[in-house]
Amino acid sequence: MALPPQLRPLIGTWRGTGSGHYPTIDAFSYSEELVFSDVAKPFLVYQQRTWSPEGKPMHMETGFLRSPTATTVEFVLAQPTGHAELAEGTLSAVEGGLFLDLRSPQLLVSTSAKTVEATARTYRITDDRLSVDFSMAAVGVVMTHHLHSDLVKAED
Ligand code: HEM
Repeated sequence: MALPPQLRPLIGTWRGTGSGHYPTIDAFSYSEELVFSDVAKPFLVYQQRTWSPEGKPMHMETGFLRSPTATTVEFVLAQPTGHAELAEGTLSAVEGGLFLDLRSPQLLVSTSAKTVEATARTYRITDDRLSVDFSMAAVGVVMTHHLHSDLVKAED
């Protein structure tokens, strides 16, 4: 089976910068690279890496993005921090692009990882720009914004 056509706008390498905060930590900023790869299967392979402003590696994650119907998406994600997310949600066409709205109402969390109870993610593509938002209910805090980044398509 080939890639569902509604996922095509995501394909490529996206680069940019982001900032993060949470009530329990100091605010921070980072640079980010997201790669969505078409591997001639009905899903995209996803790899994300981030770096501090000094160039030190920060968070990274990897996964698979599926779109079983024209308006739904499923994101299977693994994080080296000991968290695994299965986020599900909607995909909709917007002026000049695409909007993905995903929620993971529960996560698998390893014994040594910090508690993360639920996550919410959005990905908005407008022409060659991608903006990402991430919220989480974690470490005893209700669902609260953690990250925002603005990326530009660097390569197809
Ligand atoms: C762009 C990706 C991300 C970056 C750059 C990032 C960065 C950070 C930083 C710098 C901290 C503070 C660490 C400290 O003070 O020790 C933090 C804390 C945290 N992050 Fe993220 N993070 C990212 C994604 C995520 C994701 C995807 C999750 C959950 C699935 C997550 C969950 C947490 C948790 C649970 C904490 C600990 C909060 C606490 O100790 O009070 N982060 N993150």
